[in-house]
Amino acid sequence: MTTTNSGFALKLIDDPEAGFAERLQRLSKPMPSPKPGHVLIKMLASPVNPSDLVYLRGQYGLPPKDNTFAGFEGCGLVVDANAGLYGKWLKGKRVAVAAQPGIDGVWAQYACTLASYCLPVRDDIDDAQAATLIVNPCTVVCLLDRAKALGAKAVVINAAASQVGKGLIRYAQRLNIKTIATVRSETNLNVVRNLGATHALLTTDQDFSMQLKAAVEATGATVLLDAVAEKETPRVLKQMPQGSTAILYGRLEETHDPLGGHFSVADVIFRDIRIEGFWLARTIKNMPIWRVIQMNRRVQQLFAEGIFHTDIRGQYGFDSFLPALEHYAEHKSDGKVILRPWD
Ligand SMILES: NC(=O)c1ccc[n+]([C@@H]2O[C@H](COP(=O)([O-])OP(=O)(O)OC[C@H]3O[C@@H](n4cnc5c(N)ncnc54)[C@H](OP(=O)(O)O)[C@@H]3O)[C@@H](O)[C@H]2O)c1
Repeated sequence: MTTTNSGFALKLIDDPEAGFAERLQRLSKPMPSPKPGHVLIKMLASPVNPSDLVYLRGQYGLPPKDNTFAGFEGCGLVVDANAGLYGKWLKGKRVAVAAQPGIDGVWAQYACTLASYCLPVRDDIDDAQAATLIVNPCTVVCLLDRAKALGAKAVVINAAASQVGKGLIRYAQRLNIKTIATVRSETNLNVVRNLGATHALLTTDQDFSMQLKAAVEATGATVLLDAVAEKETPRVLKQMPQGSTAILYGRLEETHDPLGGHFSVADVIFRDIRIEGFWLARTIKNMPIWRVIQMNRRVQQLFAEGIFHTDIRGQYGFDSFLPALEHYAEHKSDGKVILRPWD
C-alpha cells in the first residue's frame, strides 16, 4: 500500500462568482489510519451530487473546511478496520460509503469513515451504481415513506428529471401513489412522461398554474416534494388544497441569498399549509443501525428490479475530473459524473 493519499481537497475562496473547479485542489496527504469505530476504504468510484456543489460554495448544512477532501458518497473496498466485530466483518467487502460529516470526504484514493456508514453491496450492482446507492435512493425511500405517513395518494415532484425525481416517479408507481412531475424543458417533459408520471407539466408554460391546479384536482395531491425552493414553493402550493404539506429537500434554484426560500404566510395561517425539511444525513443519524441496514437491503433490491438506476454521463480519472464536474454543474440532466481515483 502507498504511504500517501491523493485526492481533491477544498480551497476556500471568498468570491461568490468563483467556479467549482477553482474551489478544489489536488492534494496528497499522509495515508490515514482508522480511529476507533472507523474503517479505511480504498475508493473505487464517487459521484458528484448537487450537495457537493452546494458544499463547495459554502451553502450546505456543514461549514466547508480548507484542505479537507470533498465528496460525500462513493463505493470502495474496506482494507482496514478498527471497529470491533462489525469492522472485522466488513474487511475485504465492497461497500457503499458515506463520508463522516466534518472529516475528510471520499474524493480521494483512500477514505476513513465510521463503520456504520458503510453498507456492503451485492455483486450484481456495478461500482458506479453502488457509488450512488446512498444519497439519492435512500432519499427517495424516506420521502415516499413520509408522504405515505401524511396520507398522500398523489404527490407533486419538481425538478422531476433529476435522479431523485426519476426514482420518485418509478417507486411511487410501485406504491400506487400518483405523480405530478414538473420540469423546465421539453426534453425533460418527454423523459418524465416516458417514465410513467401520471401528469407531466412544463413549468415555463404560460398556463402552468392552471394545468397544475387541474392535475392536483384530478389526483388529489396533498404533498409537494420540493427540490427547487425559492419562488417555486409558494407558486406550486397556491394550487394545492388546504392542509397540504411541502417537504423541502433541495435548493436547485441558484441564489446567493444565504437564507433563501419563500412561502406565503397567509397560506400557512389560513390554509393550514405546512412546510417541513428533509435532510438524509440527519434522518440516518437518528435511525438505529438495524433500520439503516433494512433500508439498504430495500434500496439494493429496488436497484436489482430496475426501480432505481442512476444515469451516468461518464467516469473520470483525476486528470479529466474537473472539466467533467464543471459540465455537470451546468448540465445536470446529462447524468452523473463519477470520479475513479485509480484510472
Ligand atoms: N435533503 C437531502 O438529504 C437530499 C438528498 C439527496 C438529494 N437531495 C437534493 O435533491 C435534488 C436532486 O438531486 P439529484 O442528484 O437527483 O439531481 P441531478 O440528477 O443532478 O439533477 C438535477 C436536476 O434538476 C434540474 N434543475 C436544476 N436546477 C433547476 C431549477 N432551478 N429549477 C428546476 N429544475 C432544476 C435539472 O434539470 P435541467 O435540465 O432543467 O437543468 C436536473 O434534471 C438536489 O437539490 C439535491 O441536493 C437532497
